[in-house]
Amino acid sequence: MFEKHVEKALFFVRIAPSTRSFMYKKILFVCLGNICRSPLAEAIFKKQLEIRGIQDRYSMDSCGISNQHIGDRPDPRTIRNARHHDVEIVHTGRQLVPSDFNNFDLILTMDRSNFQNATEVSTKASGKKGDLKMMRSFDPESLGTQDVPDPWYGNEEGFEEIFQMLWRTCESLIDFLEKQQQTEVKKERTPSSL
Ligand code: 4NP
Repeated sequence: MFEKHVEKALFFVRIAPSTRSFMYKKILFVCLGNICRSPLAEAIFKKQLEIRGIQDRYSMDSCGISNQHIGDRPDPRTIRNARHHDVEIVHTGRQLVPSDFNNFDLILTMDRSNFQNATEVSTKASGKKGDLKMMRSFDPESLGTQDVPDPWYGNEEGFEEIFQMLWRTCESLIDFLEKQQQTEVKKERTPSSL
C-alpha cells in the first residue's frame, strides 16, 4: 500500500511536469508616443507568434513614456506600412505606469531615452519586477546601434526601415524567449531532491 503511494508521488514528480505546457510570458513594448514604434513592435511580435503557432504562450502590450497620445490610434503611416506587410495593428495609446513592472516579465524600450525614463518609472514599482531591456539588444544586425529610430518626423522610408528592423528583432527575440522557456521547463523536470 505504502509503495503504491510512493509510486504515485514519483509519477507526478517525474512524469507530470513533462506534460506541462510552456510557461506564459508577458511582454511590454515601450516607445515615446505609443503611436509608431511600440504598437508596431507589439503587432509584429503577435504576427510572428501566430506564424509559429505559439500565440498561447505569450501575451503582449505596448505603451508610451509620454501622456500625449493616451486614447489615440496608431499613426496612419505606421498602420499603412504594416498593412502592406500583412500586419494589422490594433491598439489604443496608453502611458507606462509603475505597475507595468509588476505585471510584465519583460519590458523592452525602443531607444535609450525611453530606457532612462522607464528606469525612473520602475523605481516607483514595489516588489518583484520584470526585466527592463533595450529592444535592439535582440537585433542580430544592430552593430552596436541601440536605438530604433523615431520615424515620427521623417518620411515613409523611415516607417519601412523600422518595420524591417522590428521584424528581424522580433524573430530573434522569440528565438531567445523560446530557448529560455525550454531551459525553465527542463529545470522543472529535474527535481533536485531525487
Ligand atoms: P513613437 O513616435 O514614440 O514611436 O510613438 C512618436 C510619436 C509622437 C511623438 C513623438 C514620437 N510626438 O511627439 O507626438
